[in-house]
Amino acid sequence: MKNNIIRISLALLLTAGMLACADSDGDPIVEEPEETAEPSLDNIRLKAKFGIGAAVTNSELNGQYANTLRTHFSQITGEYEMKMAHIWKGENNYDWTAADGMVNFAATNNMDVHGHTLVWYNSFPNWFRNANYDSATFETKIKTYIETVVGRYKGKVISWDVANEIFNDDGTLRRDGCPVFRTFNDPIAFYGRCFEYAQAADPDAKLFYNDYNVVLAAGKRGAMRQMVNRFRADGYPIDGLGDQFHYMASTNRTTIRNGLTDLASTGLQIHMSELDIRINVNKDDNFVYLPSEQAKHAEAYKDFVTFFEAIPQSQKFAITTWGVSDKRTWLTSWWHPKEYPLLFDENFQKKKTYEGFLEGLQ
Ligand code: GLA
Repeated sequence: MKNNIIRISLALLLTAGMLACADSDGDPIVEEPEETAEPSLDNIRLKAKFGIGAAVTNSELNGQYANTLRTHFSQITGEYEMKMAHIWKGENNYDWTAADGMVNFAATNNMDVHGHTLVWYNSFPNWFRNANYDSATFETKIKTYIETVVGRYKGKVISWDVANEIFNDDGTLRRDGCPVFRTFNDPIAFYGRCFEYAQAADPDAKLFYNDYNVVLAAGKRGAMRQMVNRFRADGYPIDGLGDQFHYMASTNRTTIRNGLTDLASTGLQIHMSELDIRINVNKDDNFVYLPSEQAKHAEAYKDFVTFFEAIPQSQKFAITTWGVSDKRTWLTSWWHPKEYPLLFDENFQKKKTYEGFLEGLQ
């Protein structure tokens, strides 16, 4: 968005400059004002009145990949770069290479960065997991980690997923593989303090709780609402909620729409934080991405974006797609090799899904 404002102001300045020009005889040159003063309506970054993000891989930030990002997105998120196991190599050993790389790319290209993610059960480094710390030691170390990471990127990362995936779909706390669950009697209070540590390290950063299936699973949504209410009652900060939005072209639209409305009734900022839409919904080995499938896919993108647009304007934080092009997406390994979930094809050409996204924007 920062980008939009700068572009538009620049265009207005240029236009004003041209109107004030005179030719060599001193006669004023009458020129039509440049059309560029209006945001382009065929570009998702320029059309959207909220952030348009993409999950990126630092090592790929060049060539067509980088150009596509600059042209169509206003913010980036590290697909792996800011996960704990990727940064925290040992108690006093932080590897900033990849995270710094993407933060520098964003700064150079005037893009925002959404940080993902500070505390996630799946990314505690093994050295930490194996230490089996008691709760006090555990928390001291996590506090230091949060202060160090958020502090390093203060003013450079506009928002953080402070906690990711702490609930099951039925609303119970995740226990499997979750070091927080087995260490704390009151995990929610621990997470609340994590939000506090993040806020202390960068008071301007927006702080999110992020999870999957949020708009589908009423139990999980209920648990999130209870957590938000508790945070409010106990004075812990929280600015927003993210639903990852790893859904399918066949996912029930009414459920999504109602779930989003319910989520927004918390009054918090809402992030569609890892959007991708599976089209090969039956994992068909003979799947062909025919024009008819592409049209169905575009319709799904349009619907999802339309539902996001229906929440109050002040609560629309961003829509982030989980990847840039079909050339590389986690879904070809996690779901099916014949999967084409994103807005750009493997040659970085806009797909019909891009048009669907665009049409969904107000
Ligand atoms: C979850 C995490 C993401 C990512 C995906 C798979 O959604 O939040 O960071 O690991 O799984 O890519």
